[in-house]
Amino acid sequence: MCGIVGYTGTRPAEPVLIEGLQKLEYRGYDSAGVCTLDDRGVRTTRRALGKLAALKARLSSEPCPGTTGIGHTRWATHGRPSEKNAHPHESDGVTVVHNGIIENHRELRLELQARGRVFTSETDTEIFAHLIALARQQGLPLLEAVRRAVGRVQGAYALAVVDEKTPGALAFARLASPLVVGVGEGEMFLASDVPAVLAHTRNFVFLEDGDCGMIEAERYVVVDAAGVAVQRPVKTITWSAVMAEKGGHKHFMHKEIVEQPRAITDTLRGRLSFDDAAILLDGVDNGALLSTRRVVIIACGTSWHSGLVGASLIESLARVACSVELASEFRYRDPVLDADTLVIAISQSGETADTLAALKEAKRRGCRVLSVCNVVDAAIPRVCAIGDGLGAGTLYTRAGPEIGVASTKAFVTQLVALHLLALQLAQLRNTMTKEALLEDMTALAHLPIHMEKVLAREDDVRALAQHHVNARDMLFLGRGLLFPIALEGALKLKEISYIHAEGYAAGEMKHGPIALIDDAMPVLVLALPGPGYEKVISNLEETRARGGRVLALVSDDDHSLDDQIEGVLRVPTSHQRTMPVLAVLPLQLFSYHVADLRGLDVDQPRNLAKSVTVE
Ligand code: F6R
Repeated sequence: MCGIVGYTGTRPAEPVLIEGLQKLEYRGYDSAGVCTLDDRGVRTTRRALGKLAALKARLSSEPCPGTTGIGHTRWATHGRPSEKNAHPHESDGVTVVHNGIIENHRELRLELQARGRVFTSETDTEIFAHLIALARQQGLPLLEAVRRAVGRVQGAYALAVVDEKTPGALAFARLASPLVVGVGEGEMFLASDVPAVLAHTRNFVFLEDGDCGMIEAERYVVVDAAGVAVQRPVKTITWSAVMAEKGGHKHFMHKEIVEQPRAITDTLRGRLSFDDAAILLDGVDNGALLSTRRVVIIACGTSWHSGLVGASLIESLARVACSVELASEFRYRDPVLDADTLVIAISQSGETADTLAALKEAKRRGCRVLSVCNVVDAAIPRVCAIGDGLGAGTLYTRAGPEIGVASTKAFVTQLVALHLLALQLAQLRNTMTKEALLEDMTALAHLPIHMEKVLAREDDVRALAQHHVNARDMLFLGRGLLFPIALEGALKLKEISYIHAEGYAAGEMKHGPIALIDDAMPVLVLALPGPGYEKVISNLEETRARGGRVLALVSDDDHSLDDQIEGVLRVPTSHQRTMPVLAVLPLQLFSYHVADLRGLDVDQPRNLAKSVTVE
């Protein structure tokens, strides 16, 4: 939540900061602000309520001069969205931007007020400005002042700091919120994530929890929580800035939907070996898979939906008991865990606070931990790093940067990665014949072609969306592997179109929700071939008999429902276990077009943020 960016070098800082914030706007967009320093330390701060566009408009008439600066785009936690609560926050010439949350902010605020500090915002962040300013008044150098200040704070932070007395330098600190240093030539950057400054450098230092440091145009220094200088390796990023651009699409979400066949090709690359009917999973400790007697999957939101599909695959293919938990619930309910349990965290961002905390708790209790993640080297993969006896590695989904707030390509790549993991478990435990393994591998290899076919029918989906653009509510029904897809279809619709939608296990309809059915309620039934098909058709008929407006997702060759349904979406028939990947595509497109036709901000829906780094 919230994105931060920093720059120092020889160029004007303002355009670099604004460009970076543009790329980070997916992390929050309640308000934005920048602060720059010129060579003499003269400070200029501009803040604006609302999206970055409001700040840009302000800067066009009131620019920020200087070659050093920090910027912030906010997702409000403490203090409602307003200009006064927008970052940066300043105290006695020390100006800060912060992503994260200070848990002991009340005590610290009272203490600082008792020492005569006057607060001008309702944010927790302003505490950093006062703490650092006080330490500076005691004569501490900026880096040491920052280190002392963060030592007083409980919670999570990625922090960038400028001080009028040290023009040309930025201090930083991180704990449990992401922050990278971009290493340029004669210039340095700070950012919440790589794409924000990827147009300027490919060389990055990924900071560790507890790190503090400074950047200047020609150098950077990192110290650990004790103040001891540490070496953090510079890593070179191979994907290009273009991969994180819209590439001619109206929205990132649309681009990301369309590029899903490519994403799946990447997820599969090098992992299917047809010559010897084998799955090859890089970065995963097979010993942990082999020894596990029980799997627990933890995740949030869309990632939890992929976990539901993954658990079914793991149980049916590898015959290992597998449960799926919402990370936010799991960590507070004292679950039964032991050394025979493998806990798998699924996360696109790799930094979701609830998933991270649940994973750490599982590790603390002696479980082996594995992650399925998209963002390389994020906090969750780090907890799972092989080498400490409990880390079992990370299966990267390789979706590439996902910018649209509503997850699409990350979801389908998670589905495929989990299918691979289930096959790998089955292979290690000898629960599948070679022929059965080859059958699933072939189905996975064919997926990108089938997906292209589904995406080529976008116009049909758009027409259906046009028809339901004014719906007030909508139900999505599915069974078996398609129940999580019904949940995902409903989540996509509600989060970007603001239409109330529910996903339901079709068999549960008669236990309550059927009371909702009337002629204003579209019900989309996922009726694809598989063991639950006959039953789901019965549920469809029950809905129709009560006057519901039935839409159906069916396979290409199924025309048996043509005269019973008001609208239809079609996908090619594929292997039953890869059907969820195909089924979700028209649902993503449906939500996308409903939201677009309603004129809504598809990539940045209200109240949401891409990475949920608060609990
Ligand atoms: C919905 C969506 C969210 C995320 C959830 C978990 O479209 O994107 O529900 O799935 O916030 O995020 P990650 O996967 O980054 O842990």
